[in-house]
Amino acid sequence: MPRIDAFLLNPVNYMQQKIFYPESTVLVSKLAQEDKVRTLLEKLKSDQRSIYEHSLRVAILSLDLGFENQFHQPDLNFLGYAGLLHDIGKVNLPADILSKRTVLNSTDRASLNEHARLGFLTLESFEPEIVKQIVVAHHEYQKIPYPRKKIDRRKTERSTPGRRSNQSQAGALAQIVAVADIFDALTSQRSYKEALKKSDTETILRNQFTGDALYIDQVLRRFAD
Ligand SMILES: [Fe+2]
Repeated sequence: MPRIDAFLLNPVNYMQQKIFYPESTVLVSKLAQEDKVRTLLEKLKSDQRSIYEHSLRVAILSLDLGFENQFHQPDLNFLGYAGLLHDIGKVNLPADILSKRTVLNSTDRASLNEHARLGFLTLESFEPEIVKQIVVAHHEYQKIPYPRKKIDRRKTERSTPGRRSNQSQAGALAQIVAVADIFDALTSQRSYKEALKKSDTETILRNQFTGDALYIDQVLRRFAD
């Protein structure tokens, strides 16, 4: 009998954001307890507790945006898996880089940025396959994108359900995970920084996030006052 994580029983307790669709937390709890996901999450939880909690919040926020945009069930599942596993590549990184409290030098920054590609490799045989494509792309909708350096793909990847190629579907879903990721990073208190105010969060999001601006408006409405 697998141990049920308290977080998964009531993930809302850990949210600093407003969640509009209760189905978001229900679906994340369900997906996180599937064997193929739980094994990876348990490793992340034991190695990097704060990244584990961040990943759960990003998954819930991503799904909340997915429900708001009336995504179909398969896309919702893809978003949930990808939100949970977007930073899984960080389990392969040296612990001292992740725990640094100071500004990273360029070598450390380059190592840290490897986590998107490492996540893709960790999920090599993960099904559905689109999840690893979303994971590798979750930092490609920011001012300095990585690992691929494409600049602005928002016009071709508008997240209308249906009629998309596999690649643009992954791109559209990656935008949601990306905006949720940046939003949670800015609005969460960390040991080395305070949570940002709404106005600062908005300024940075509008400056940094290069995906569909609609998602910025939607995620900002989830700021817990
Ligand atoms: Fe990341």
